[in-house]
Amino acid sequence: MRTSLGPVQLAASAAWTLSGNDIGTMITAAPRLYPHMWSWDTAFISIGLAHLSAARAAQELRTLLSAQWRNGMIPHIVFSEGAGYFPGPERWGAAELNPDAPNAPRTSGICQPPVHAIALRRIVDIARSQGERAVAYDLLTFAWPRLYRWHEWLVRHRDPLATGMLAIVHGWESGMDNSPRWDLPYSEVFPGPDLPPYVRLDRGLVAEDAERPSDVEYDRYLWLIEEMRKVRYDADAVVRDSSFLVGDVFVTALFALASEVLATLGEESDQPAWQIKQLRGWARRSRAAVATSYDPLTGLARDRDLRGDRWLSTSTIAGFAPLLCGGLPVGEEKSQLAMLCGPDWAGHPGLFAAIPPSVSPNDVGFRPREYWRGPVWPVIAWLFGWAFEEHGWKSEAEHLRTECLRLAADGSFAEYYHPLTGEPLGSRQQSWTATVVLDWLHTS
Ligand code: SER
Repeated sequence: MRTSLGPVQLAASAAWTLSGNDIGTMITAAPRLYPHMWSWDTAFISIGLAHLSAARAAQELRTLLSAQWRNGMIPHIVFSEGAGYFPGPERWGAAELNPDAPNAPRTSGICQPPVHAIALRRIVDIARSQGERAVAYDLLTFAWPRLYRWHEWLVRHRDPLATGMLAIVHGWESGMDNSPRWDLPYSEVFPGPDLPPYVRLDRGLVAEDAERPSDVEYDRYLWLIEEMRKVRYDADAVVRDSSFLVGDVFVTALFALASEVLATLGEESDQPAWQIKQLRGWARRSRAAVATSYDPLTGLARDRDLRGDRWLSTSTIAGFAPLLCGGLPVGEEKSQLAMLCGPDWAGHPGLFAAIPPSVSPNDVGFRPREYWRGPVWPVIAWLFGWAFEEHGWKSEAEHLRTECLRLAADGSFAEYYHPLTGEPLGSRQQSWTATVVLDWLHTS
């Protein structure tokens, strides 16, 4: 029988989870599988923390931003002193190879989706609503210029065709590591004989190997790191030489959304007008790029393989990117929303809860236990819920929130869940799951 905690117990349990993952210098993404700070995890973590303490939330975001590279990139991992994760700082060798990378703390050499401005917005609003105006002001003053530089870095180094479609150089940069979105481009990544040997540490930490990416996938992940090491993580050389270069429609939509949010925060805090204008311009361009990727045949937006010069049509949650950032004509937007809520996605009759899974249950590639190939990810639902609120789609946002809380009521705070049974999968006590639950509980 599945446990079902009431809201008070669930909130207490989420707070307990976060304090358990607090190692003093940071809140780790999860206790055993992810004993460090991940860039987009930390954005979500600080949102939930704000409900417990705005000052603590601000501190967490500051810790992440303090590891920003000199060139503006926010690295995807900020390493703690703890071991037990592969690839760790030695394998990345970022600080040894690139003078822009900080020596302390150590970091990885790639980035993750730019959701930080959304987190900043949420924390500032929560802090103000608690009367913590000074905390909100100080955080905004500290974070705004840094996030501006981060967005500027993305435009400068990750928009190779100058279309507004941002490119990723590793599946990990999408956050959706082994999504079917990347199968085709990864099939053309050929690990060389000089791939140094390695031992995976992740698989022993989940209940079944099938919940994690395969060894073939891991070889490719590690090979891409080798390629980047060879060019010393020089951002433009990586884009030029990496065997994986894909225009990521979901990252692009988040960038468009986050740039608008950052621009508005800039207006509220008297930031330079030309930078605010710049952000709005970037948002416009990236929104248009997302709209251009829309395929009327499937009703979904597409990624663009920049090495193979082809659209990538897969039936994944990323296809709904336009619902995050807007930009589609009204009719198409409405039909996307109807599709997301309909029987191929959140309205599929076999689902445990009406939340869109990472891959449509009606797709031949749907694998309900396997990481980004089918499971439900609460943070992704949170992003859609937040965007729905912004768009004024209140009842859809509310329905998503209620269903997510029903899924999470087991108190496991799993990394992801089996969409048909609600079984917790991957890591447990995942910080970002606990924090989005806290945010949902506080917005009821
Ligand atoms: N998500 C990756 C992992 O599973 C790293 O970013 O380790």
